Amino acid sequence: MRLQAVLVLVASYTFTSAVADSFQSDCSAIASGFNISNATVWFSEYVPAGTNLSLPENNVTCALSYQVVTADICRVVLYVATSTTSGISMEAWLPRNWTGRFLSTGNGGLAGCIGYADLAYTTGLGFSAVGANNGHNGTSGGAFYNQPEVIKDFAYRSIHTNVVVGKQISKAFYQKTHTNSYYFGCSTGGRQGLKSAQDYPEDFDGIVAGSAASAFNNLTSWSGHFFTATGPTNASTFILADLWPIIHKDILKQCDTLDGAADGILEDPSLCLYRPEGLLCAPNTTNTTGCLTTPQISTVRKIFSPIYGPDRSLTYPRMQPGSELLGAPQILYNGEPFSYTVDWFQYAVYNDTTWNPATLSPRDYAAASRIDPGNIQTWNGDLSPFRARGGKLLTYHGMEDQIITSENSARYYEHVIDTMAAAPSTLDSFYRYFRISGMGHCAGGEGAWSIGQTSLGPTTPLGPSSNVLMALVQWVENGTAPETIRGTKFVGDNPTAGVDFTRKHCRYPFRNYHVGPGDPKNETNWECIQQGSVRDKWLL
Ligand SMILES: *[C@@H]1O[C@H](CO)[C@@H](O)[C@H](O)[C@H]1NC(C)=O
Ligand SMILES: *[C@@H]1O[C@H](CO)[C@@H](O)[C@H](O)[C@H]1NC(C)=O
Ligand SMILES: *[C@@H]1O[C@H](CO)[C@@H](O)[C@H](O)[C@H]1NC(C)=O
Ligand SMILES: *[C@@H]1O[C@H](CO)[C@@H](O)[C@H](O)[C@H]1NC(C)=O
Ligand SMILES: *[C@@H]1O[C@H](CO)[C@@H](O)[C@H](O)[C@H]1NC(C)=O
Ligand SMILES: *[C@@H]1O[C@H](CO)[C@@H](O)[C@H](O)[C@H]1NC(C)=O
Ligand SMILES: *[C@@H]1O[C@H](CO)[C@@H](O)[C@H](O)[C@H]1NC(C)=O
Ligand SMILES: *[C@@H]1O[C@H](CO)[C@@H](O)[C@H](O)[C@H]1NC(C)=O
Ligand SMILES: *[C@@H]1O[C@H](CO)[C@@H](O)[C@H](O)[C@H]1NC(C)=O
Ligand SMILES: *[C@@H]1O[C@H](CO)[C@@H](O)[C@H](O)[C@H]1NC(C)=O
Ligand SMILES: *[C@@H]1O[C@H](CO)[C@@H](O)[C@H](O)[C@H]1NC(C)=O
Ligand SMILES: *[C@@H]1O[C@H](CO)[C@@H](O)[C@H](O)[C@H]1NC(C)=O
Repeated sequence: MRLQAVLVLVASYTFTSAVADSFQSDCSAIASGFNISNATVWFSEYVPAGTNLSLPENNVTCALSYQVVTADICRVVLYVATSTTSGISMEAWLPRNWTGRFLSTGNGGLAGCIGYADLAYTTGLGFSAVGANNGHNGTSGGAFYNQPEVIKDFAYRSIHTNVVVGKQISKAFYQKTHTNSYYFGCSTGGRQGLKSAQDYPEDFDGIVAGSAASAFNNLTSWSGHFFTATGPTNASTFILADLWPIIHKDILKQCDTLDGAADGILEDPSLCLYRPEGLLCAPNTTNTTGCLTTPQISTVRKIFSPIYGPDRSLTYPRMQPGSELLGAPQILYNGEPFSYTVDWFQYAVYNDTTWNPATLSPRDYAAASRIDPGNIQTWNGDLSPFRARGGKLLTYHGMEDQIITSENSARYYEHVIDTMAAAPSTLDSFYRYFRISGMGHCAGGEGAWSIGQTSLGPTTPLGPSSNVLMALVQWVENGTAPETIRGTKFVGDNPTAGVDFTRKHCRYPFRNYHVGPGDPKNETNWECIQQGSVRDKWLL
């Protein structure tokens, strides 16, 4: 028995070190072996699991100077020209323990920042993964000014190029074509996922697109319109941050139990038609600390209303009620111009650095949508080529999203329904949208928000019922589509402190309903029900 154990140990040791040697030498050799058009490989290096990788080249505004690597990888760093005046910086991370799966990460905001955290997370799960800088470096949109090719990279070409080149690198390194190709991103990353499904259906077998910044020009108008609604901080229409918790409480008073549970979480905020009038200050009061003046009531109404173009066409749906405590007042209702809106209009839409965000009007909404720099809108509702090639699209959105209203994800779903003349039961075969209650923008919030969309280290839920990426893999590879996605809420959002509660989030158009009287923290006390339609709101 003992001898056998020793032999097994020796055998596995020999095996591991032999593999280590060839993996490492293959990695160093690969940089010189490539012949990929328009690509310049800077270097390739072996990085063992656990390395705290220093990223001195990463633009300071990306605010990430190191990344802990979770698997033994071969890291390839290169530049790929996309035109004579543009190009992307990209990286391929190739894990030793490869599952045969390929994956592209996405970006965020207006940023040119490689998603290193997602590269680490997904290579730890055995994907060969790529990430690119979206055609420019840093978080600002300044690089778009007078650079239409850089805008194209941002709108679609960075991801597509990254994938085409990344698949070649993966194949050259492993001497084997990947089995399936995946996409994984949120926010701008969610938009990039939808764009791929719409315009590059061959790129991916499966796409996770979270909290998507689709209808991008219109979203940018919407983000900027809050400043015109609140005015600057000294305007009578402005609402001090202190008042928002009071408004939030009033919202819960009116809407919390619409889902059958008074737990402070709105499962379906689209049902919440909030009326702020109850908070109106008493006539002639001089103390306005706990109440709203008439101009402020009107501001609240504007915030929770859709915006329209000059022809009364819908530009963008309303902010969903519930995000007040997650930073919406600090980010969007803070009495200052929204920086992405300023950048997008100045550097991309109007090519005019004197454009004044205080003048933003429905005419600007229409102009941005019409000019559509780089074809960025991402609103093609015909997903039939993606469906025809067997692609699966898993989307999600937080119901407390404080940056991109979740109502727009439902609107895109309905747009696909209309464009493809399909019913939800038909879309179910290739496109599912999960509404994650109590979740902010891509992560965080008071609900069961952890769905594997981001790595929480060893405590990240990995089973397909609790992890959007693994749910997608199971759907693509086994044909088992997720009915619900279980979210996990950790105690105090500290994964090492244990699980507070879980909740199974429903796919649209189902909504979650508490079939009490049991504890709302027990997931078995909830049911996905289909009740009514919210789409009439957009047809006003
Ligand atoms: C690289 O490929 C191109 C065309 O695909 C070819 O013209 C060129 O000779 C190749 N270069 C090397 C070094 O193999
Ligand atoms: C990685 O290195 C950075 C800078 O040297 C340091 O601040 C950080 O704490 C390190 N992280 C880990 C997990 O060791
Ligand atoms: C290489 O870049 C040029 C523009 O500089 C572009 O026209 C061409 O399509 C690119 N080639 C590939 C294979 O992407
Ligand atoms: C390799 O991946 C498989 C699952 O794909 C996992 O079971 C195994 O533990 C991994 N091995 C190492 C050394 O990471
Ligand atoms: C972005 O940064 C990388 C790394 O420093 C550099 O190689 C690349 O040229 C930069 N790209 C642009 C467009 O400035
Ligand atoms: C870093 O990013 C900022 C903001 O996007 C940009 O202005 C700056 O040029 C970038 N720096 C480098 C060295 O690329
Ligand atoms: C942007 O405006 C500048 C200055 O008016 C002009 O020189 C340039 O051609 C414009 N660029 C584009 C892409 O319209
Ligand atoms: C408010 O004040 C105005 C003028 O000072 C007065 O005419 C009015 O009656 C007051 N209203 C109430 C409800 O006290
Ligand atoms: C003003 O109203 C708030 C909230 O209703 C209350 O807490 C505060 O004591 C009042 N201040 C004065 C000076 O009456
Ligand atoms: C964007 O807004 C314009 C102006 O209201 C409107 O005509 C257009 O239909 C909107 N597009 C989308 C995708 O929301
Ligand atoms: C697919 O199903 C088989 C059999 O049930 C299971 O062993 C395998 O882990 C599944 N693979 C995925 C990716 O879910
Ligand atoms: C959740 O509810 C079910 C059904 O009522 C019950 O069997 C189970 O014990 C409950 N779980 C917890 C953790 O309370």
